Amino acid sequence: MNPMLNIAIDAARAAGNIIIRNVDRIDRLTIEVKAQNDFVSQVDRKAEEIIIETISKAFPEHSILAEESGQNDKQASDYQWIIDPLDGTTNFLHGFPQFAVSIALKHKNRLEVAVVFDPIKNDLFTAARGQGAKLNDRKIRVTPQKGLKGALLGTGFPFKHPQHLDTYLATFKAVHPDAAGIRRAGSAALDLAYVAAGRLDGFWEIGLNAWDMAAGVLLVREAGGIVTDFSGEGDYLDTGNIIAAAPKLYQPMYELIKPHLTDDLK
Ligand code: IPD
Ligand code: CA
Ligand code: CA
Repeated sequence: MNPMLNIAIDAARAAGNIIIRNVDRIDRLTIEVKAQNDFVSQVDRKAEEIIIETISKAFPEHSILAEESGQNDKQASDYQWIIDPLDGTTNFLHGFPQFAVSIALKHKNRLEVAVVFDPIKNDLFTAARGQGAKLNDRKIRVTPQKGLKGALLGTGFPFKHPQHLDTYLATFKAVHPDAAGIRRAGSAALDLAYVAAGRLDGFWEIGLNAWDMAAGVLLVREAGGIVTDFSGEGDYLDTGNIIAAAPKLYQPMYELIKPHLTDDLK
């Protein structure tokens, strides 16, 4: 197996153990407010520490971009690990069981390996470029869904970016009439993993960070799905705006969303 994927899996499982050990003692955690509607606890920080420790031990030359500790650049390295130690912190802090560890490795702008691990359900989503995507060692594929009629979509509300709320609601209204359902589960990493696994047909969100989506993007692509930013291009990691969908759903979904996007989002 891919040695980089193996290390990513070890790191994600170690972080998952820390998260699980704290699920029943949320009331004893110290919670800090990073920004409006943006929280962090010792669990996020400890999970991130163990991920970085595991990766740095195996690949000391690689650089790291992690949500809680930021960028640690090793100049010589073309490899960058992109880490969200706990995606779905707000869910975690409320005992709402939908959160995950997300770890991706990028080499010269190309995503190479991805792990999204849900420690509650023990769902381990993995992908390596050119080798497909898996859920717990079983190959996964996006759905054959054609068009919006009957599609189950995932999304995220821009609660950290209230300036985009009206635009977001316009996109929501555009896809709402035809979709069979729209879910806002609270972890973008898992939303994308669910598109890869065929649990959702498509997903869109405004204003994510690279660590929310890097692993999920590779999962969707390796599972046969299409991922773009709001210009229909590949700059989602930089813009934070993303549409991911089964191949026959992507275009009709994008056509519905596109007319409502303001210029600063394209
Ligand atoms: C958040 C989740 C959520 C998304 C937010 C993210 P966090 O990540 O992915 O689904 O809507 O924009 O910030 O803060 O829980 O790691
Ligand atoms: Ca996140
Ligand atoms: Ca996080």
